[in-house]
Amino acid sequence: MFAMKKTYNIAVLPGDGIGPEVVKQAVKVLNKTGEKFGFYIEYSYADIGGIAIEKTGTPLPDETLELCKSSDAVLMGAVGGYEWDNLPGDKRPEAGLLKIRSGLGLFANYRPAVIYSPLIGASPLQERITKKGVDILILRELTGGIYFGEKKRITTKTGEQAAYDTMIYRRSEVERIARLAFETARMRRGKLTSVDKANVLEVSRFWREIVIEVSKEYPDIELNHLYVDNAAMQLVIHPEQFDVIVTGNMFGDILSDEAAMLTGSIGMLPSASLGESSLGLYEPVHGSAPDIAGRDMANPLATILSAAMLLRYSFKLEPAAKAIEDAVEKVLEDNLMTCDIATENAKVIGCEQMGDEVVARI
Ligand code: IPM
Ligand code: MN
Repeated sequence: MFAMKKTYNIAVLPGDGIGPEVVKQAVKVLNKTGEKFGFYIEYSYADIGGIAIEKTGTPLPDETLELCKSSDAVLMGAVGGYEWDNLPGDKRPEAGLLKIRSGLGLFANYRPAVIYSPLIGASPLQERITKKGVDILILRELTGGIYFGEKKRITTKTGEQAAYDTMIYRRSEVERIARLAFETARMRRGKLTSVDKANVLEVSRFWREIVIEVSKEYPDIELNHLYVDNAAMQLVIHPEQFDVIVTGNMFGDILSDEAAMLTGSIGMLPSASLGESSLGLYEPVHGSAPDIAGRDMANPLATILSAAMLLRYSFKLEPAAKAIEDAVEKVLEDNLMTCDIATENAKVIGCEQMGDEVVARI
C-alpha cells in the first residue's frame, strides 16, 4: 500500500474586483507547493461581498459561512466596488467581511510589513530611512472596538440629524489580544508597542491599563506605548524602532495601510486572521481595486504571501511557507515586478505572469 498524501480543505472566497485574479495566482502557487512538499489541497469556492449581493441579496450568505466553518482555512480575495457604494451600511460588501471575521471568531489580525531589498526604490521613504530596515508586525484586534460597537442615526432633542458609533472594549477582549501580542513579540525581537489614544479616550486608558497588567507576565518583553497620532508619524520617520505593534480595530486598520505603503506598495502586504483554533482567514490587505480589475495589472504577491501565512499558521507547514516567501523574493531579485512596485530597471509583468514566475521558483 502507498501512503495517502495529507489532504487539506481550503474555502476560497475570491470576492470582487481584482479578488478573483489574485486568488487564482495564489491557488497556482499553493498547488505547486503541495506537489513539492507532498500535501494535497481541495478547494471549495463560495461567494462573499458584491458578487454575493448580486446572487443572493446578502454580502455573506449562510452557506459561505458554513463552508468556511467546516474548512481547514479560508483564502480570500477582496470585496467592494462602485456598484455597491450607496447601499446601507449593513448591506454593503464590507459588511460581509466584518461578519465573516466575527462569525469565525477571528479576533487577531496579523499584518506584517517587510521591505524586500529589491523594492527599496519603490518605497516612498528616502533610502536613508529605509536602509535601517523595516520589519514590523502589526497585530490588529479584529472583532471588537468601534467597528462592532452600537451604531445609529438619530435626531437630537433640537431636531438635528446626528449619527454615532461606539468604541467599546471588554476586558477579556483586551487581555487576549495583549497576551497574544506578548507571545508574538517573544518569537520575534522581543519588543512590543501598544498604540492607543489614552490622552483622550477612556477606552484607550482602559486598554493601556490592561496591557500593563498583562506585561507583568512577560518581563522579558520590552513594552512601550504610543498615541496613535504619534505612531503614524513615527512609522515614517523611524520605522526601524518597531517590532510588534498591538492596537485596536480602527487604529490597526489605518496604521496597517500606512505601514503597507512603506514597503513600496500595498500590493505586497498579506494578512492572517486567527482565533482560538487553527482555522484562519488569509487575505491581502489591499482592497478590490475595481479600476484595474480584469486588466491583468494587479499585484498578486500580497495574496500569494497570504497563502504562505496560511500554510504557516493553519497547517503548520513552515518549510512550505518559507519556500513561497523565498520564491517571491527571488522574483523581485530577478527584477520582475508588477506596475505598482516597478522600480527603474524592472521588467513590468502582469498578474498572471507574476503568478507563473513565483510557481517557477518554488
Ligand atoms: C481591511 C479593510 C476592511 C476593514 C474593510 C473592507 C471592511 O479596510 O481589511 O483593512 O476595515 O477591516
Ligand atoms: Mn483597511
